[in-house]
Amino acid sequence: MPGIRAPSTYSEEPPRHPSLIINSKEPFNAEPPRSALISSYVTHVDMFYKRNHGPIPIVDDIESYHVDVSGLIGSPKKLYMRDIRSLPKYNVTATLQCAGNRRTAMSKVKAVRGVGWDISAIGNAVWGGAKLADVLEIVGVPKLTSVTQSDGKHVEFVSIDKCKEEKGGPYKASIPLSQATSPEADVLLAYEMNWEPLNRDHGYPLRVVVPGVIGARSVKWLDSINIIAEPCQGFFMAKDYKMFPPSVNWDNINWDTRRPQMDFPVQSAICSLEDVNVIAPGKVKVCGYAASGGGRGIERLDISIDGGKNWFEASRYQNPGIPYEADGVNSDKWAWVLFEAIVDITSNTEIAAKAVDIAGNVQPESVETIWNLRGILNTSWHKVQVRVGHSNM
Ligand code: MTE
Repeated sequence: MPGIRAPSTYSEEPPRHPSLIINSKEPFNAEPPRSALISSYVTHVDMFYKRNHGPIPIVDDIESYHVDVSGLIGSPKKLYMRDIRSLPKYNVTATLQCAGNRRTAMSKVKAVRGVGWDISAIGNAVWGGAKLADVLEIVGVPKLTSVTQSDGKHVEFVSIDKCKEEKGGPYKASIPLSQATSPEADVLLAYEMNWEPLNRDHGYPLRVVVPGVIGARSVKWLDSINIIAEPCQGFFMAKDYKMFPPSVNWDNINWDTRRPQMDFPVQSAICSLEDVNVIAPGKVKVCGYAASGGGRGIERLDISIDGGKNWFEASRYQNPGIPYEADGVNSDKWAWVLFEAIVDITSNTEIAAKAVDIAGNVQPESVETIWNLRGILNTSWHKVQVRVGHSNM
C-alpha cells in the first residue's frame, strides 16, 4: 500500500505515556488510571485508552497515502488526504468506549476470554475530519441512501494492520449504508484528535469514528472503503464483539445466531475512588463518567452509599459550571457527562453508581445476569468499597 506500511513485529511502536496501565504489551492495550478520566471533560490524547490488535502502522509518505473506495457503486475512486481535507471539516465531540470496558469485573463471576480492562477503556475526544456522508457523495452515493442501485447496503472499512485474529490480515468492520450516508449520524473520517493530527496509536493518518457505537467499528489506519451487500464478514464483526446470553459457552457457541454489536448500552463508573480506599469519616466527593450509545443523553445519575438500598441524584456536566440538559441543543449528544456528588460517609460501606439515559434505559444491578463468554458490555452498577479510618488518599 503506497505511503503506509504495516510492520509484522513490535520493534517500531510509538512512545507512550508512562502512567498508562498496560493490560497487554504486544499488541499494545492500555488504559489510564481512573483519576485521569475525570480530570477533564475532553480526555488528553496521552491518557486516552489504546486498543490494538497488531503492530502500529507507519506512514512513510503522506502524499501518496490514499483510500480506495469501491464495491457496489458506479465508479471506484482513490481519495488522497488532500481530497478528504478539501471537504467541509467537522469537529465532533464523541466518546469512544471499548466493548470490553470493565471486563475484569465480569471475569470475577466466571472466566471470560479477552484483554482485562478496569473501567478506563473509554475516553472523550474532539474528532476533526470529513463526514463520511460527504465522502460517499463524491463517489456517487447521495445522502440518506440505504441501498445503492447495485444493492449495496453496508459500508466496510478495511485497515492495513496485521492482526493475529485475521491470520495476519487487516482489521475490518462495517456499518449500515443508511448510517454512513446520514449527515446527522456524524460518522467521520477523522484526521484530528483534540485539534491535533491523529497520533500513530489512534489511527494516523485517517480513521473512522462512528459516534455512539462500540469502539470496535471505528477502524483506524484506513486503507479502503467498500460498499457491500451484507455486513462485513471479518473476524471482529462475525466472530467477536457479539453479546451472548449467560448460557452460551465455548462448546455450544454459534456465532451466526447473534448480530454484531453496534450501539453501546448505558454505562457509568466512579473514577474518584478505588477498591478499597481508606477514607476519613465525613464528606467525600464521588465523581465519574456516564455515557449511553446511539446519541442518547444521560437523564439521571444515581448514587447510593448503602450498597443500593437508597439513592440520590448526582449533578451532571459537560462544561463545568453550565447545567447539563440530556437532550439540550447545546449538549454534545455523542459525548459522556461527568458527574459529581458529595456524600457523608461515617462507616465502612459500598458506594454504587447507576445511570439512566433519555430512553429510560438503566444499568442492570448485577454483573451475573449479563455475564457473557467474551466479557463484553459489562454495564452493571459500578460499586466501590470504602473503609473509614486514617485516609490513604
Ligand atoms: N482499528 C484497527 N485498524 N485495528 C484495531 O485493532 N481496534 C478497535 C478500533 N479500531 C482496532 C481498530 C477497537 S476494538 C477499539 S475499542 C478502538 O479502535 C480503540 O481505539 P483507540 O485505540 O483509538 O482508543
